[in-house]
Amino acid sequence: MDQFLNDLPKAELHLHLEGSLEPELMFALAERNSIVLPYSSVEQLRQAYDFANLQAFLDLYYQGAAVLQTEQDFYDLTWAYIERCKTENVIHTEPFFDPQTHTDRGIPFATVIKGISRALRDAESKYGISSGLIMCFLRHLSEEAAFDTLQQAEPYLDQIIGIGLDSSEQGNPPAKFERVFAKARDMGLLAVAHAGEEGPAQNVIDALDILKVDRIDHGVRAIDDPELIKRLAAEKIALTVCPLSNTRLKVFDDMSQHNILQMLEQGVKVTVNSDDPAYFGGYLTENFIALEKELGMTRAQAIELARNSFEYSFAKKERKAELLAELDRHCVAR
Ligand code: HPA
Ligand code: ZN
Repeated sequence: MDQFLNDLPKAELHLHLEGSLEPELMFALAERNSIVLPYSSVEQLRQAYDFANLQAFLDLYYQGAAVLQTEQDFYDLTWAYIERCKTENVIHTEPFFDPQTHTDRGIPFATVIKGISRALRDAESKYGISSGLIMCFLRHLSEEAAFDTLQQAEPYLDQIIGIGLDSSEQGNPPAKFERVFAKARDMGLLAVAHAGEEGPAQNVIDALDILKVDRIDHGVRAIDDPELIKRLAAEKIALTVCPLSNTRLKVFDDMSQHNILQMLEQGVKVTVNSDDPAYFGGYLTENFIALEKELGMTRAQAIELARNSFEYSFAKKERKAELLAELDRHCVAR
């Protein structure tokens, strides 16, 4: 089953590039950029990855991202993730990046996006892995700062498929970003938002009704509102669920409590994703394996989850047809 899950063609729709920064690369980039990390070794850094909640993780995640300085650093970060995609048969990916984490440290927006985009172009030309880059606003910062970031992105709109909203959900509800989401949508960008991760089901409703998002990131707290579950299923609104992230950040006490398969069986278009794999103990295949081992996910469910990842991706119609055909071919061949 592990090999089956690894080889299953998949798309990833919820992956923060900064969260794919492995400790080994973090140390290498720190050395390359003459930055002293507050840890003596990779092992000591990994030991610090024991999080009580989302904020505890975010504090380390922003600290770690400070080693990223040059265009080549952003290329190397993205390319390391693409190599993982290749190994795990992730044939389409829609990664997030957090420009404000970098521009607030004086790194130009251009440096960040040029490095990431070059790696994504190489992913396509060398491995045939397609992608769509999503730019997230940090919700603990102001709406004005998000507007400023959107303006900086304008020369690069051909390299960005949509916008997202991440960072601390508690105290930063969707409504705070209503106008900037409206502007981005007017500019032709698609929209997603983290909602119902640590925050209430109402944040999922508000992300849909106020921000008018095309997908919900996480969304697991929707389970508290049976009417919302019915709506998600009826309107085919996809949730990008991240099982290992949710257990590492104590959204669920352990994997046996996770509700992803329950939602799948209720008709919600859920997908499996790794979120911040360098911090949460596994890439996409590991997330699928955890569902199989701890929730008894069947092969048919795994295939349905993979199908959802293509169906609810932002890939263009022709590419989506190719992705789905690849999944069908693979499943028939087995
Ligand atoms: N939630 C909110 N913000 C984030 C996350 C997450 O899981 N990962 C990176 N930024
Ligand atoms: Zn996330």
